[in-house]
Amino acid sequence: MDLFVDLDHDSAVPLYRQLQSTLSELIVSGRLPHGGKLPSSRSLSGQLGISRNTVTLCYQELVASGLVRATERHGYYVHVPEASSATGSSAPHESFDWQRRLIVPGGHDLPEIDKPADWFDAPYPFIAGQVEHDRFPARAWERSLREALHKPHLHHSIRDDLAGDDPLLVRQIIDRILPGRGVFADESQVMITLGSQQGLAMLATLLLDPTRAILMEDPGYLDARHIFQRSGARVLPLPVDGDGPIVPGSTAGVDVVYTTPSHHNPTNVTMSLDRRHALLQRASHAGTVVIEDDYDSEFRYHGAPSPSLTSLDTCGNVVYLGTFSKFLSPGLRLGFMVGSPELIAAAKKERRYTVRHAPGQIQRAMALFIQSGDYHRTLRMTRDRMSRKYDLITEAVAAHLPLENPSFPPGGVSLWADVGPDVPVDRLLPAAAAQGIIIERGDIFFFRPPATHHIRIGFGAIAESRIVPGIRKLGQVFDSLR
Ligand SMILES: Cc1ncc(COP(=O)(O)O)c(C=O)c1O
Repeated sequence: MDLFVDLDHDSAVPLYRQLQSTLSELIVSGRLPHGGKLPSSRSLSGQLGISRNTVTLCYQELVASGLVRATERHGYYVHVPEASSATGSSAPHESFDWQRRLIVPGGHDLPEIDKPADWFDAPYPFIAGQVEHDRFPARAWERSLREALHKPHLHHSIRDDLAGDDPLLVRQIIDRILPGRGVFADESQVMITLGSQQGLAMLATLLLDPTRAILMEDPGYLDARHIFQRSGARVLPLPVDGDGPIVPGSTAGVDVVYTTPSHHNPTNVTMSLDRRHALLQRASHAGTVVIEDDYDSEFRYHGAPSPSLTSLDTCGNVVYLGTFSKFLSPGLRLGFMVGSPELIAAAKKERRYTVRHAPGQIQRAMALFIQSGDYHRTLRMTRDRMSRKYDLITEAVAAHLPLENPSFPPGGVSLWADVGPDVPVDRLLPAAAAQGIIIERGDIFFFRPPATHHIRIGFGAIAESRIVPGIRKLGQVFDSLR
């Protein structure tokens, strides 16, 4: 063990006393834990540049005071007296009032999305927003990570890029991902993010403050609401129906609209084409920025995908957020933002002074993963699997859950279900969890406590073979509560 002790060689207090007082404080405060071995007198005297006798004298004093036990031939061990170990009363962190120093952000009292830490061990993880860990393309990803550490890629993997992005990844996104969403951009319009969440946080910093207002779907993506509330802006609700968000007659006075048009979070409804045109027309007219969070557009099971808002934008006021989270892994923390060059330059500057840039090796590995074709191969396989899962879960839910008029929008990675007033969600969730079934509550996504009783049933993370037995079992849980 290395111990740093600041000794004052000019002081009138003898060195052994100074050392004894510092070690006593470390022991009593719990920073040197009970039972821990102290360095030998030879080693500590070497570390501190003092004589061995000084250390021995100090240890003898500590033994005499009861804070250290000496064992023959084995050395000296910390012995924390019971009273101080029980209370830990002299720990310095307890005497400093951090609560008074910390700024309380807006939205601190909002509920939070909660996922059990060990959800992947549950037999029926109908959890939203996660992926099937066993299906992660680990071999291909490992290949890309390894290749990223060799020339000519090494430089890009390990350099400090200040405000820059990996040019190969930006190129791959421009050439091979964005055209699939009808988005055509150049390098000045793309920035790599640490996932859409970072994109949202940066947009909040750049576009919102307490004098501004943002409109977002109600119910809506709760983490986005947290982010917007933290900026101090007014966060206004935009109701949603079967055609997506109900676009107001005008967005005058609204600085930003945030929307998830491909598959609305949390209901999965797809925004109709008419609404898309209406939103763009009104936002352009009022000078409102539109944030299009296209977090899971990959997953469309029936019908043609709708054109992204960004592809329909003729005014330049739309910002697009894409992510690698939903079909590859949210743990990679990688996504991208597409917008006007002015916005992207400001966002890169903002990012430089927070995290600089996404980790170089992860960016380069993703670029190689896309370039090699592994990305699109994995995407095709994931889409096929998700499509099979969608068929299984929609049939099973219709057959086994007592829902009234269930309707399933043709895409997304979770279902949104109204369970009606007879089965209290507060009792349903723990009763399901007791059977190893993880589903999520829906009320937290609303601005005000809703009159409806919704749950969210994700099917991205659960294995295909578990879906039907899990939903059947969930049906039994419903029955037991009615
Ligand atoms: C609507 C929506 N946007 C963004 C995100 C966050 O994505 P990322 O992991 O890229 O930060 C999620 C994650 O669940 C989401 O549901």
